[in-house]
Amino acid sequence: MAGTFFTVLVYSSDKKKYGPGSGLLWIGRIPETCYHGRLALVIETVELTREFKDVVAVENLTMTVKEGEVFGFIGPNGAGKTTTVRMLCCLVNPTRGSAFVNGLDIANPKDRLKIRGMIGLLPETPGLYESLSAYRNLDFFAQLYGISREERERRIKDLLTALAVWDRRDDPVAKFSKGMKQKIAIARALVHEPSVLFLDEPTSGLDPQASMTVRNYLMDLKKEGITIFLNTHNLDEAEKLCDRIGVIQRVLLAIGSPEELSGKFWGKTTVVRLPLVTAEMVRAVEAIPSVSRVKEIEGKLLVELENPDRDNPLIVKALVDKGAQIEYVNELKHGLEDIYLRLIGGPK
Ligand SMILES: Nc1ncnc2c1ncn2[C@@H]1O[C@H](COP(=O)(O)OP(=O)(O)OP(=O)(O)O)[C@@H](O)[C@H]1O
Ligand SMILES: [Mg+2]
Repeated sequence: MAGTFFTVLVYSSDKKKYGPGSGLLWIGRIPETCYHGRLALVIETVELTREFKDVVAVENLTMTVKEGEVFGFIGPNGAGKTTTVRMLCCLVNPTRGSAFVNGLDIANPKDRLKIRGMIGLLPETPGLYESLSAYRNLDFFAQLYGISREERERRIKDLLTALAVWDRRDDPVAKFSKGMKQKIAIARALVHEPSVLFLDEPTSGLDPQASMTVRNYLMDLKKEGITIFLNTHNLDEAEKLCDRIGVIQRVLLAIGSPEELSGKFWGKTTVVRLPLVTAEMVRAVEAIPSVSRVKEIEGKLLVELENPDRDNPLIVKALVDKGAQIEYVNELKHGLEDIYLRLIGGPK
């Protein structure tokens, strides 16, 4: 029932469980994909559009991010990634369209406050208080969320230790390198234990070791079930971390898991390496009904087909029947870089 909105009132008379006077438990819109009481979609946008004076930054963006998913947003400079995140974090209003975070409407002032409380954001620039120490920066931010002193101490220690900057906790941020500031900003985005995390280029400017620390940390968060929306130019990082990827260039060009995106453009291809390829062998493979194309490149047969699991044994049999000595059979994989270049184009 796409586009259908429900308003639901939930009452309970169980005062013991919900406290005195709290008969009305919840009022709001149930997202279209709320299955069996479990919120399946954390982010949902419908034709979300943002125009600036003479630029359309994001146009008709319709997409979803599921609970516990790491979603990667990739696209060239100026593609609208940051603008999308800023809209979802209620920092800039859409021109048209709508979006929901945990079922809350980014256009509703009351919902906006709630959304801000449940999300963590690492913006493009860290925006820390330079004269305060790393610890005080995080402590100040955590206080704004009303977190108790004991709890603040525990969380800040855990975060700074995990991000390998605990030893520098008392130094003013002004003395930190770019990468260290980035780590403090990541810790700040997490100190109130948000359920949804928006990261705008978290490893930009980090050295390889620091990038790995951050990536490993994000993997741990993923295991904990936090939903992560990740803007990145690092395609390798996106491929390693993300369950699904959206490619944007003002409009959403493609969305899906890396395998789905690869399958969309290239279909399935099996690679068979042989010491000798004869025309007879090629014809035998071409004769298999579900094989759409056979190419020979540098002693390898590239066989495009519908269903490798089902048809690879047929290919092997056809080749062996023609006297082939098969060295290996493999699946041809197209990485995210191939997909990106296919969608966005090559060097400018
Ligand atoms: N506050 C603003 N005022 C005017 N134009 C803006 C503003 N913010 C963004 N834009 C424009 O919107 C477009 C999208 O910008 P955005 O920052 O969302 O891109 P991006 O994908 O994050 O790029 P990058 O990879 O460089 O960070 C750009 O053309 C940019 O100039
Ligand atoms: Mg950006």
